[in-house]
Amino acid sequence: MRILVLGGSGQLGRALLPALADHEVLAPPRGRLDLLDAAGVAQALDAFRPHRVVNAAAWTDVDGAEDHPEAAAQANEIGPALLARATAERGIPLLHVSTDYVFDGAAERPYTEEAEPAPLQVYGRTKLAGERRVQEANPAHYIVRTAWLFTPGGRNFASTIPERASHGPLRVVDDQRGSPTFAPHLAAALAKLLLTEAYGVHHLAGTGPGMSWYELARALLAQLGQRARVEPISGREAARPARRPAYSVLGTTRTHGIALPPAEEGIRAFAELLSGRRARPG
Ligand SMILES: NC(=O)c1ccc[n+]([C@@H]2O[C@H](COP(=O)([O-])OP(=O)(O)OC[C@H]3O[C@@H](n4cnc5c(N)ncnc54)[C@H](OP(=O)(O)O)[C@@H]3O)[C@@H](O)[C@H]2O)c1
Repeated sequence: MRILVLGGSGQLGRALLPALADHEVLAPPRGRLDLLDAAGVAQALDAFRPHRVVNAAAWTDVDGAEDHPEAAAQANEIGPALLARATAERGIPLLHVSTDYVFDGAAERPYTEEAEPAPLQVYGRTKLAGERRVQEANPAHYIVRTAWLFTPGGRNFASTIPERASHGPLRVVDDQRGSPTFAPHLAAALAKLLLTEAYGVHHLAGTGPGMSWYELARALLAQLGQRARVEPISGREAARPARRPAYSVLGTTRTHGIALPPAEEGIRAFAELLSGRRARPG
């Protein structure tokens, strides 16, 4: 297949390149193809004639979105709407990536695809609006909600832990629970999903009962063999600008058999990459 990836230089975009190695992939950086450039997107679609389009581009700065709601809405709602229309006009299925932060965290068991979204912050509201625009405009859509992405070299919590821990005790939030997801594991699952016509909403994240940021930090340091003091704190003490759900573990009721490995396996693979015990993908 020919596959066009938007957001090719982000964490997920970079992980997708090796995962899609069996296909002909075009993944231009934002400077060469902006999601908001309708003419540029149309031209890319007509020149490359992809069989699938993956939208991994987004505004992902959850706290920054509180101060820049317009810019977040442009990337997370308006861009996906344009892309969904352009792909629908050409009969191309669109895989659009979304987030566990569409949920409010009031649940006590994993959120499945049927759960009612109720985002708590600007980022989640713009991502939910993007999902809805994609659903309205292109019937051949895969909306994949994922969570807590990490990979070496990306902008993510896990990547900051080893360095922060080397400077003294870490204080990490322990009352927010989610599904840590190793980006290459997600990319491998998306590669399988793209071969199907299983359209609709999918929850794909590191599997298992989920963990808190505190537990994630401890698990990663243990894998790295790095001794450090980690102190659990509350989200209130962390005082971040955007509210986060207390619980956003993702589960699924889809029966296509495509699932990620347990979150712990992602942490192990990530630690191996960080410590040079495994060759970097891509
Ligand atoms: N990161 C997480 O923990 C997480 C959790 C749940 C869901 N997700 C979702 O997963 C997807 C991938 O996230 P990620 O972590 O890979 O994000 P990321 O590393 O922040 O990458 C996002 C990419 O989108 C690009 N981009 C932003 N606006 C664009 C535009 N107008 N046109 C073209 N490209 C644009 C960015 O380019 P520049 O860097 O040049 O701006 C960047 O390369 C997103 O849909 C995100 O909402 C992420």
